[in-house]
Amino acid sequence: MPGTVEVALGAAPASLSLLPGKTTAGYAFNGAYPGPTLDLTEGDHVIVRFKNDLPEPTNVRWHGLPVPPASDGLPDDLVPPGGSRTYEFDVPLGTAGTYWYHPHPHGETASQITKGLVGAIRVRAKQGPLEGFAEHLVVLTDNKFDRDGQIAALTNMDRADGREGDVVFVNGRLHPRLPIEPGEVRRFRFVNASASRYYLLHVPGHAMFHVGTDGGLFGAPVERYVVPLAPAERAEVLLKATGGPQDEVTVESLAFDRGAMHVGVVDPDRLAATDRAEASEHAAFPLFELAYGDGAPKAPPALPAVLRKVPALATTGATPRTLTFTENMLTLDFKINGAAYDHGRVDIRSRVGATEVWTLVNQAEMDHPFHLHGFQFQVLERGGVPEPFPAWKDTVNIPRGERVSIAVKFDGPPGKRVYHCHILNHEDLGMMGTLLLEGPQGGEPLLRM
Ligand code: C2O
Ligand code: CU
Repeated sequence: MPGTVEVALGAAPASLSLLPGKTTAGYAFNGAYPGPTLDLTEGDHVIVRFKNDLPEPTNVRWHGLPVPPASDGLPDDLVPPGGSRTYEFDVPLGTAGTYWYHPHPHGETASQITKGLVGAIRVRAKQGPLEGFAEHLVVLTDNKFDRDGQIAALTNMDRADGREGDVVFVNGRLHPRLPIEPGEVRRFRFVNASASRYYLLHVPGHAMFHVGTDGGLFGAPVERYVVPLAPAERAEVLLKATGGPQDEVTVESLAFDRGAMHVGVVDPDRLAATDRAEASEHAAFPLFELAYGDGAPKAPPALPAVLRKVPALATTGATPRTLTFTENMLTLDFKINGAAYDHGRVDIRSRVGATEVWTLVNQAEMDHPFHLHGFQFQVLERGGVPEPFPAWKDTVNIPRGERVSIAVKFDGPPGKRVYHCHILNHEDLGMMGTLLLEGPQGGEPLLRM
């Protein structure tokens, strides 16, 4: 039917080709890693017929989209092994952007995502300002392997730090090449689908124009030297191909110190050799290669000066709240406001239509990327510095020892939502809470709508 997107999605064990000459036992959506991209248009009605062929319970979360609670893939709303269910939601106007989907079973999210269950979602506007540029989706993941090329067992140190793999994948591949011609402008949609890794995207010698984030485009392009990407964040970037014929340029991530203890990346080109002891901490690492063709150098076209209107949320009269993040590396206690996640407890009660200002306070030694289900929010201040312009976000890094304030309007259906750290080991250890929105008239909250 026009305007309806109906797809079948299955999660099942799979043999993945990740490392040269090795096969890794993992999981996959429809047999692919990353899973199939869900391409949507604003106004679509989406029906996903999901089948769980894993030997364990799972579910699917549509990260960043305003999906009603019953289809939101909440941590306790699971599909048993062998079971099926339908997820159904609308894609409202104004949501054009880059999103992703992944499992969310409490306690097992990190392990299932690490085994391979991730996929991207692209939402287009009927008429967007950037349609003329060739586009690439870039899903960034990482993993850690044992000598046989199998996914390494999780240690308590991994849990505490948030495990970063020492091998980084671009759309499931190691250091791929992307042909490009001088004078082009390319549009990239980056998705950080890694369990714990942060990226600082950088293209040596090239200007990057950051044009969008989690909830879609900014008001206008912003030129940047690096584009940061915390776990679960997305970034849209326009790249001007200002290189010359035959140039090879490495799109890389600069090192980001998030306060964790045991992380590092191995050179992907040395993976064929078995010696992987050289994972270097705190060094830049390559993502993919821009391989310039023979075209004569020429000046790229101008970029649009305006992308769309992003009005700032009105916050007068907003309800203030404070969420404090704490961690204990020895006891593996990761808490928000002194409590670990309990699916039977409501931590924050509010109402449909309310606007709130949340101050997110990180009292820990590590950064924690905060994510809220159901609503896009706007960052107001980071570390006391006002955000330069309004943008729609669903995930924001809270640097260690700092505070970040956000504004959110609960302009969606009533019901239960969760918010959590998107370092998935921390989420699994309980750095998550429950928000319950009651209907505008009050009365009985709808737990399942
Ligand atoms: Cu990416 Cu609670 O999710
Ligand atoms: Cu965390």
